[in-house]
Amino acid sequence: MTEQPATQHHAAQHPITDWAGFGFDTRQVHAGEYPDLNTGLRVPPIALSAGYVFDDFDDQVDRFAGRSIDPIYSRQGNPTNGVAEARLASLEGGVATVAVSSGQAAISSALFALAKGGDHIVSTASIYGGTRILFGRSFARFGIDVDYVWDAEDDAEWQRAIRPNTKAIYTETIPNPRNDVTDLRRIAAVARRFNLPLVVDNTVGTPALIRPIEHGANIVVHSTTKFLTGHGAAVGGAIVDGGTFDWEAAERAGRSFPLITDVKPGLGSMVDRFGAGAYARATREAVVNDIGPSLSPFNGFLLHQGMETLSLRMERHVASSLAIVAWLEQQPEVLSVDYAGLPSSPLYELAARDYGVVSARVAGAGGAAGAGGAAGGEAGAGGEFAGARTGSVFGVTVRGGIDGARAFVNGLRVFSRMTGIGDTRSMVIHPLSSTHATFAPEINDRLGITPGLLRLSIGLESAADLITDLRTGLDAAARV
Ligand SMILES: Cc1ncc(COP(=O)(O)O)c(C=O)c1O
Repeated sequence: MTEQPATQHHAAQHPITDWAGFGFDTRQVHAGEYPDLNTGLRVPPIALSAGYVFDDFDDQVDRFAGRSIDPIYSRQGNPTNGVAEARLASLEGGVATVAVSSGQAAISSALFALAKGGDHIVSTASIYGGTRILFGRSFARFGIDVDYVWDAEDDAEWQRAIRPNTKAIYTETIPNPRNDVTDLRRIAAVARRFNLPLVVDNTVGTPALIRPIEHGANIVVHSTTKFLTGHGAAVGGAIVDGGTFDWEAAERAGRSFPLITDVKPGLGSMVDRFGAGAYARATREAVVNDIGPSLSPFNGFLLHQGMETLSLRMERHVASSLAIVAWLEQQPEVLSVDYAGLPSSPLYELAARDYGVVSARVAGAGGAAGAGGAAGGEAGAGGEFAGARTGSVFGVTVRGGIDGARAFVNGLRVFSRMTGIGDTRSMVIHPLSSTHATFAPEINDRLGITPGLLRLSIGLESAADLITDLRTGLDAAARV
């Protein structure tokens, strides 16, 4: 007779989230892992199952009624994605994360949980081009208006933009392509004054360089396609709930968030049931589960594995970027470099305060790679200087306008000509004819998107090879 397996209890193995007090590097490896009691597998596996077995009739009733948070269906939750979710919550210093299918899904889902048709959002003006398109097209079609604040330092501009039906303030840590870092503390103070949740896209910063919740953000969104997964192989997104917004106090002050505070008979509100994690739960149950942008567990696996090396990769991304921007700044074919972490940037002080400073070396100084000497006035002996860690995505403007840009891009070999940022490969794109091609000329002028501007994303190749490649591109631009 064949041996029959013992009847198993099917309750999900919930990730181990208790890594508080451990260092970032420990948490990026361990937070969210769960013991696989059946097989002893050390790496949390890819749980490719659309659904889950209920223990019995009453277990099904409890899961559907919300009395049990064990999963029902993979559109609403999956153990592989759960590892990534708990890990990212730990790294960002939040209480819960909802993983979704792309960065765009993260931004839409995060904001749909706060705003409905007829509501309003205020965003800083310098944001990813795709988000500006999302706000101007789909959000407008659904009746959610978005207004922009151009000078985040100007309190009067915020005051004019925020309305009684405003439901969120939206910004990014390191907007691309201009690397014009945002003063989160200042914007968080505005958000608090108006009882509004602050939603911050931290795709380009990553929690290895900045944790927006520590600066007053309430919700953090990511395109995990970029640095978090890290290798350019999987599209994904995530929404992190900081657990820091008082939804009921906002409601009392006249800003209502019904998905989070409305009371369900017999269950209470999301706040009653999930406390500090109420927003994440509402987003999971009432937005992601309804609309359906769930993350494939395969991509969730690549995400939780990618995060294991995040801080190491970011350190290298930043070191190479600082060496390269300081070198680029000295080249005669270069009109300007937009990198807040460069000592010559007007944003340097803010960048140093929020992102920290590292000792960097101008690429090529001391004969390591390509041309270049000491950085203009700022670098000391051997080309050493103190640079702030504002990531690896930035703008460079070459002489010769669009023709200079074309020759430069066509002259590159190691840099991939492609849309995308934040993976192991270095990439280049011309924003005016790609990410910003649909915007009115006056908007692009105001954003500083000029014909000679290129966006670079510095990967993990050897910095010396990247410099040699950039030199070849600049030589081509000089011949125009
Ligand atoms: C800052 C930022 N947010 C969101 C997105 C959108 O992410 P995804 O391409 O994963 O939808 C991107 C994509 O480039 C981005 O750079």
